[in-house]
Amino acid sequence: MKTIDELLAAGVEGKRVFVRADLNVPLDGTTITDDGRIRAVQPTVAKLAEAGARVIVASHLGRPKGAPDPAFSLAPAAARLGELLGTEVAFATDTVGESATATVAALTDGQVAVIENLRFNAGETSKDDAERGAFADQLAALADVYVGDGFGAVHRKHASVFDLPARLPHFAGYLIATEVGVLKKLTSDVKRPYAVVLGGAKVSDKLGVIDHLLEKADRILVGGGMVYTFLKAQGHEIGISLLQEDQVPVVQEYLKRADERGVEFVLPVDVLVAPEFPDLKTKAPAHPTVVAHDAMPADQQGLDIGPETRKLYAAKLADAATVFWNGPMGVFEHPDYAEGTRAVAQALVDSPAFSVVGGGDSAAAVRILGFDENAFGHISTGGGASLEYLEGKSLPGLAALEN
Ligand code: 3PG
Repeated sequence: MKTIDELLAAGVEGKRVFVRADLNVPLDGTTITDDGRIRAVQPTVAKLAEAGARVIVASHLGRPKGAPDPAFSLAPAAARLGELLGTEVAFATDTVGESATATVAALTDGQVAVIENLRFNAGETSKDDAERGAFADQLAALADVYVGDGFGAVHRKHASVFDLPARLPHFAGYLIATEVGVLKKLTSDVKRPYAVVLGGAKVSDKLGVIDHLLEKADRILVGGGMVYTFLKAQGHEIGISLLQEDQVPVVQEYLKRADERGVEFVLPVDVLVAPEFPDLKTKAPAHPTVVAHDAMPADQQGLDIGPETRKLYAAKLADAATVFWNGPMGVFEHPDYAEGTRAVAQALVDSPAFSVVGGGDSAAAVRILGFDENAFGHISTGGGASLEYLEGKSLPGLAALEN
């Protein structure tokens, strides 16, 4: 994989450089609630601009349906990138139309522009190679060189991630180089004990990685909405908690395999329950109660791990040498259900282990709960991407940069 340093060494002055970033940041209206992904790509953009490139930054945001939708505009992200760079950033209100063409044509050496959400064009995510290719052709016409730095999207076979690099000289940006370097440490010569903490809503999103980790990890700690499918698989009553009934047999199989292989599956011993999902807008007090994992009332749902589980998980992480964490332990967006996620984050801060926080919600949680990012070994910008990397899959966006 050629890196941006090779590009810079060859000289980029006056060149139009297309940077595929992942500016898919959480928004509350037009307010960015976590700008981690924008900060993560800033060094690549800054370096190119300093070297005199005409930088075109492109990304997706959310999942619009292949047509413009103001709720998913990249305008707030463009403004934030400008603040971070301390310079004016131009903004094109379309992807490959008149605005983008004019905005790119108006760039002078060292200037930066952001084009509108790539997913406003159906070609970006199309399953049809020709449709994706046609959009990639239009994007290629905007630039001379491609820099891939949207690590969070490298697992997507999308036009700007997979097809566009094939059409332009291509290089990996600093973020992708760092992310891949860190994740490699979790796949070869991993320091043991290797503990993995998995949370989030759906077991089905994590099946591939669990399957793979059963061969690699020493300990797997489970929390979040997915844990209730595990408790159900063990035969417990889970009330009205989130359940993926069809996954119960798969989970049972995993628990059996873990047992055979000596991999320790650590599940909650207590949980916080309430009759209702909390109101995340008003954050009105939710008054949860603590119950044992095997005593969940039939009319209540589990929304966070309980206090004894927090202690148990902290102890299971204390002597680990390597930790990978993906997915919150509960509905951390509500203060009554943030303590489980906070306890895991704190355990990683307190531990000397090499810790990697894998993207998406857990990375946002760490920052939203006020932890110092530098206290962790690495906070990945890729949720799905880091999981698929750990599963050992070939990721389209990385493969495209390697060719
Ligand atoms: C993410 O948030 O994981 C990335 O930005 C990819 O987004 P996607 O899951 O909508 O493709």
